[in-house]
Amino acid sequence: MPIELYRDADHACLMFTDLIEEGGQAVQANQFLIVDDGTGAILDPGGNLAFNELFLGMSKHFPPSKLSYLLASHADPDIIASLDRWMTSTRAKLVISRIWERFAPHFAKVGKTEDRVIGVPDAGGKLRVGRHDLWLLPAHFMHSEGNFQFYDPVSRILFTGDLGVSMTTGAQAQKPVTDLTEHIPLMEGFHRRYMVSNKVLRLWVRMARQLDIAMLVPQHGAPIVGAKAIQQFFDWLEALMCGIDLFDDRAYQLPTLQIDPQRGAQPTLRAVGR
Ligand SMILES: [Fe+2]
Ligand SMILES: [Fe+2]
Repeated sequence: MPIELYRDADHACLMFTDLIEEGGQAVQANQFLIVDDGTGAILDPGGNLAFNELFLGMSKHFPPSKLSYLLASHADPDIIASLDRWMTSTRAKLVISRIWERFAPHFAKVGKTEDRVIGVPDAGGKLRVGRHDLWLLPAHFMHSEGNFQFYDPVSRILFTGDLGVSMTTGAQAQKPVTDLTEHIPLMEGFHRRYMVSNKVLRLWVRMARQLDIAMLVPQHGAPIVGAKAIQQFFDWLEALMCGIDLFDDRAYQLPTLQIDPQRGAQPTLRAVGR
């Protein structure tokens, strides 16, 4: 069942947290549906594991033929691997960074994406969905090179993609976090390795502080809700060293580890997590 992040007479934001098999191999992921005036957009639709239930959930709000857009923050498999099925089952257009525009069609059969991919320039923009604009906010290198977040001025929700994620179960992802003190350990390892650099985090925080935000909602884990937690999140990011800040020559040595095909290897990058 989706949870309602926001609803008024003609606008709703729904979050699906548990479409991925619990305890399975795939990481927990959230998908989002924005409904406005009888149409809508799916944000970060996910992989094939999430397709059926998300499609069914959407159909309760408007017919699939009315879906306007699939918005992809970036081109990872947990974001857009289900592209072929969405292209087959709806008439929606894919909205994705211009730098992924010609890579995303690899997720679909030949011809399925013909004239149906809108490439967004690095500066982002505003896109009309129903009767309101959705903002496509630059969030490059957090983590993907061409990366957008989605700001909904009606609900004042900022959908942050892979920024602000926490490693949780689907059930935990439904519980909003209002104080980050105990939540930071669930975010830290991911951000240190997946985010590219502290410089980028600081540039993003400077931009994001200008927005009126009720809730930060990541693509994995729990929403961060309220002025206190959002302030804590900004402060934490500004001071966080991550990605290339933590990599030095020790991370680029010729490998010696023998990978066991039965057990898998447990490689550790010594430059990270110290
Ligand atoms: Fe990603
Ligand atoms: Fe992700």
